[in-house]
Amino acid sequence: MSQRIVISGTSRGLGLEFTRRYLERGETVFALARNPNDSEGLQALAKQHRERLTLIACDVTDDDAVAQAASQIQKAVPAIDLLLNNAGVGSGASRSFLEADLDDVIGVLQVNLFGPWRLSRALVGTVQAGESPRIVQISSLMGSMTDNGSGGSWSYRISKTALNMFNRNLGHELEGVTVAALHPGWVQTDMGGSSAPLTIEESVAAMVETIDGLSAEHTGRFFDRHGEALPY
Ligand SMILES: NC(=O)c1ccc[n+]([C@@H]2O[C@H](COP(=O)([O-])OP(=O)(O)OC[C@H]3O[C@@H](n4cnc5c(N)ncnc54)[C@H](OP(=O)(O)O)[C@@H]3O)[C@@H](O)[C@H]2O)c1
Repeated sequence: MSQRIVISGTSRGLGLEFTRRYLERGETVFALARNPNDSEGLQALAKQHRERLTLIACDVTDDDAVAQAASQIQKAVPAIDLLLNNAGVGSGASRSFLEADLDDVIGVLQVNLFGPWRLSRALVGTVQAGESPRIVQISSLMGSMTDNGSGGSWSYRISKTALNMFNRNLGHELEGVTVAALHPGWVQTDMGGSSAPLTIEESVAAMVETIDGLSAEHTGRFFDRHGEALPY
């Protein structure tokens, strides 16, 4: 049976490629984006896969938008097999805690931490009804406390550390749902920039394979794109 998949932040970058790849192999995708009409990539996919792609306007910082998206999804399908919390923002590269703008820190948390929290909360019942259900956070090694050998990037690092803790705690709390956080590698998206070593296709192909292999033993853990365990 075709998997039923919800992905956030699908207008471009990794989210768009996840959407493309899952549609290509026959899955049913609910692609959430702030402005789906403005994304050429999503519009092209919508023409190609009219029956299995639903585009939904959803800013993950907006409680009402998340509730409306969840309600639209729940009217369309009785269960979701995979919720992929991908939407994310970077931030100004503040080198010092003295320079960091706290409004910026809160703004980044709104997307990178509370976005996955809102969507997971709105859809958890629907995910629990899924087939081998999974909730996956696209996190970052920048959020690893163990790996932080250089400092800087205050709001981004802190948001992804918090997302990792959200992932860990959710793994303890949810029965019957595999919860995992993935680091995509450093990828050539708008966020990663053109010096990144990985193409979007390489990163997403590896992550899709890793997500396919997730099971109960992986719950609450953090992995690289190939499924190797990473330290929190
Ligand atoms: N690229 C890397 O090297 C790298 C490394 C580690 C982790 N990651 C993580 O991978 C994920 C995807 O990043 P990317 O590299 O694909 O970045 P990207 O190309 O900048 O794309 C980010 C996506 O998130 C969406 N988004 C931002 N704010 C949103 C909001 N409030 N509500 C809904 N969607 C929102 C953007 O939508 P709009 O078009 O509307 O802005 C866009 O679709 C992020 O969580 C990022 O932290 C990336």
